[in-house]
Amino acid sequence: MKRLVLASGNPGKLREFGQLLAPFDFEVLPQSAFDVPEAEEPHITFVENAIAKARHAARLTGLPALADDSGLCVPALGGAPGVFSARYGQLSPDQPKSDAKNNEKLLADLAGVTDRRAHYVAVLVLMRHVDDPQPVITEGEWHGEIIATPRGAGGFGYDPYFLVPGTGLTAAELPHEEKNRHSHRGKALAQLIERLRLGM
Ligand code: IMP
Repeated sequence: MKRLVLASGNPGKLREFGQLLAPFDFEVLPQSAFDVPEAEEPHITFVENAIAKARHAARLTGLPALADDSGLCVPALGGAPGVFSARYGQLSPDQPKSDAKNNEKLLADLAGVTDRRAHYVAVLVLMRHVDDPQPVITEGEWHGEIIATPRGAGGFGYDPYFLVPGTGLTAAELPHEEKNRHSHRGKALAQLIERLRLGM
């Protein structure tokens, strides 16, 4: 089995990626198993941050590395929160990340705005080694709109405000498997698997 390091400390992602990549003979290990500290994410695009995270993990472990970066983009806000999605509501960098504060700021920014369209984005980068000139890069989007009143207890982040067209439900009301099937991350992962299946 080929060992692959996941540039994330999230146990949910580790489990999901581990299960989906096992048929391709990859054993997915968390970067914490190699004492890899979290990488800087200094860039303003998802793809640049995902590349930075994958390269960092590949450099420090000597193994192939997989990284993801994701967030919510609102066209009426020029694409914000974008790469700042996790810390959008933070008033200073030393404050803890808070979904409640992020949602509060999003709603405040959208007050009086009629175009409520929004989409989640996820980018995955698989780097075979630190100098890989052609990493596998895939991207998934999930389009919806932001409602004013939260609904649902599932999901995380902006999900209670993210209305999924055609369902009448927010992302936080969708069953877990349903969300995985439609979500930005699910789509990016399906593409990655397709690329691996084709031997790319
Ligand atoms: P990360 O890439 O997993 O660190 O996610 C970045 C941030 O984007 C999260 O902290 C959330 O605020 C937001 N985000 C990404 N994916 C989702 C999702 O599926 N639901 C809700 N929020 C999300």
